[in-house]
Amino acid sequence: MKQILNFTVNGEPVSLAVEPHWMLLEVLRDQLELTGAKEGCGMGECGACTVILNGRAVNSCITPALEAEGAEVITVEGLLQPDGRLSRLQQAFIDYGAVQCGFCTPGMILSAKALLDENPQPTEEEIRAALAGNLCRCTGYTQIIQAVQAASRKED
Ligand code: FES
Ligand code: FES
Repeated sequence: MKQILNFTVNGEPVSLAVEPHWMLLEVLRDQLELTGAKEGCGMGECGACTVILNGRAVNSCITPALEAEGAEVITVEGLLQPDGRLSRLQQAFIDYGAVQCGFCTPGMILSAKALLDENPQPTEEEIRAALAGNLCRCTGYTQIIQAVQAASRKED
């Protein structure tokens, strides 16, 4: 039986009926049409579905939607600046060639954002650790690390 889920997504209050077995990724993509978070493995292994839940990067494919009750969720769609420009972190991914096929990119960016929000000037090791759960089959990771380092050098 469906239950009402009340939470905030990218600053907007949302209230909708969800089945207890639905995962947060399904609700974001299928109910709210926020398709930035991707479904890769669906098993918590690849990080393509990463969103920020109460400040923490989580794999939304294995996070029950009802766990988001009362929470604040940020998806990649929420990172645009009020004037529609990309955030510094997003722009750095482009500037440093950290986006190839792009499938991993929203999840990478949200893991990086969660890190930078908590630790604005991380070491390379800390960046690598924060992104360890986000797999990329294209870039070899070097440009991604460089992009996060570049974003950390700028004020947001
Ligand atoms: S789709 Fe969620 S971790 Fe792979
Ligand atoms: S850019 Fe293709 S998987 Fe990362």
